Amino acid sequence: MTPELDTPIRVLCVAGSPRRTGNSTAMLDACIGGIEGAGGVADRLALAEFHVHPCSGCGQCSSMGQCVVNDDMHDIYPRIDAADAIVIASPVYFAGVPATLKAFYDRCQPYWARRYILKVPPREPRRPGALMIVRGGGDPYGSECAVTTTRSVFAVLETELGALLDIEGPDLPGEISGHQGALMDAEELGRRIAALA
Ligand SMILES: Cc1cc2nc3c(=O)[nH]c(=O)nc-3n(C[C@H](O)[C@H](O)[C@H](O)COP(=O)(O)O)c2cc1C
Repeated sequence: MTPELDTPIRVLCVAGSPRRTGNSTAMLDACIGGIEGAGGVADRLALAEFHVHPCSGCGQCSSMGQCVVNDDMHDIYPRIDAADAIVIASPVYFAGVPATLKAFYDRCQPYWARRYILKVPPREPRRPGALMIVRGGGDPYGSECAVTTTRSVFAVLETELGALLDIEGPDLPGEISGHQGALMDAEELGRRIAALA
């Protein structure tokens, strides 16, 4: 659904790191500054503050359309549904995303089940989406897996991955402050996504 022109754009901003004040979360907060500066509403979701269990693969969402695992994810589903756009910020862990974020991704399986098993019509138009990655670097396997996994989940969430920031170098918490250009890019990304949505 396209929001009315005078309705502020609501952007779900997901911090995927298990660190509450890590490098990727600082990128997310810079992005939130951009979203709010452009008149949007940022719904900041720090996954490290929630208990989201892994998907158990029980398959019950394929018949019920809902997840039966009883945890904080049920507070998160309505926030996903209410979003006009989605931004994910994450570190790279072993070339992919950390378990905090992967659990969130896997628990999006009910969206897949509703669309492809239960044949619920797709959300139109697709939402704008963005991914911001931070990685220490030095690993020869890069960040491709983290990007591909996010693309796969975004497809199920009917969200278009239209912007990608991939910052290599910051490792210890706080090291992102030595990458002011990256933080400025994150703020600009926020401005752009608020304008797009
Ligand atoms: C378990 C673990 C695995 C990691 N794997 C990678 C990796 O594969 N590639 C890489 O460049 N950095 C890797 N890193 C480094 C993190 O990406 C880096 O510390 C990043 O700044 C963390 O972001 P955060 O502060 O937002 O959590 C790893 C760190 C941890 C703790």
